[in-house]
Amino acid sequence: MWAEKRSYRIAAIPADGIGPDVVGAGLRVLEAVAARDEDLSFEITHYDWGSDYYKIHGEMMPADGLDQLKAHDAILFGAVGSKDVPDHITLWGLRLQICQGFDQYANIRPTRILPGIPTPLHGKGVGDLDWVIVRENSEGEYSGHGGRVHRGLPEEVATEVAIFTRTGVTRIMRYAFRLAQARPRKFLTVVTKSNAQRHGMVMWDEIAAEVAQDFPDVTWDKMLVDAMTVRMTRYPESLDTIVATNLHADILSDLAGALAGSLGVAPTANIDPERRFPSMFEPIHGSAFDIAGKGIANPVATFWTVCQMLEHLGEIESAARLMKAIEDVCASGTMTPDVGGQATTQIVTDAVIQAIRTSNA
Ligand code: IPM
Ligand code: MG
Repeated sequence: MWAEKRSYRIAAIPADGIGPDVVGAGLRVLEAVAARDEDLSFEITHYDWGSDYYKIHGEMMPADGLDQLKAHDAILFGAVGSKDVPDHITLWGLRLQICQGFDQYANIRPTRILPGIPTPLHGKGVGDLDWVIVRENSEGEYSGHGGRVHRGLPEEVATEVAIFTRTGVTRIMRYAFRLAQARPRKFLTVVTKSNAQRHGMVMWDEIAAEVAQDFPDVTWDKMLVDAMTVRMTRYPESLDTIVATNLHADILSDLAGALAGSLGVAPTANIDPERRFPSMFEPIHGSAFDIAGKGIANPVATFWTVCQMLEHLGEIESAARLMKAIEDVCASGTMTPDVGGQATTQIVTDAVIQAIRTSNA
């Protein structure tokens, strides 16, 4: 008997601020994962794209950047954002260009209270908060549709138009119902704001109800986004899988990260469910240049997104082994300062690598 060798091509784009710290840590952990399985290997291509690249070349990545990335099975991304390049340039020039260019329309944000990580929720702990937020990642409020006229004059006008398409809403609803169906509770909450936004959000609600018919075993409810913040904070156990628009989910996922202890542990996956293009995995946190280079960035979000990457590649066993290693290390108290520990990025990374080496999972 011989097992088939599995080799994956991974594009690493650390980009700005603490991006290189956490992506470096993530790649070390990936190497340790591969070392546990003689048939598994990763071939990494490193890209130096980001704000420093922009300052030299006038663009965040080369014009054929997407073509270069296409040849990979997945992308591991750090963070963008820099003191001296405007945010909308760093964002649209790289991360959103990849998300939109590769039609990564499903953005998946799991949140749990990890063992050992303090939550600001009184009396709550591991098991009380176990959510997956599904963020629509291709349209809505992030469509980039709008413009400005009469710049600088008193009559200046700016529009920022949210676009909702039947195709876009249907496909994200289908993804969310399927994901809810695959989780033990089979329960989905559809976030909306159709009381105030009476066009796109009303269509969003209608399509949710249509798609629900194809998933009779999934229970679902609807929640206005403002009330959702209260429910997340007061009754975290009452939620499981959550689907929301691009902007609503952006905001709710920061709240989710904070409730679970820190944005430093929150991962995200930008998925092309049809697998026409590589999907992209990243920590939710930003470039945090105030702590860049200090060696104290929390690598847990990146490790967790590496888990998501392994799952997407079909490496389920390795993903589970890595997640267990992360949880064991958090439980042991080896954590960075943002979650109340004293360890450096490197100490946490070494501990996770050690846990992968010695795990009997
Ligand atoms: C996120 C981030 C981004 C977003 C920022 C960096 C523009 O907050 O991934 O949640 O709003 O999408
Ligand atoms: Mg955000």
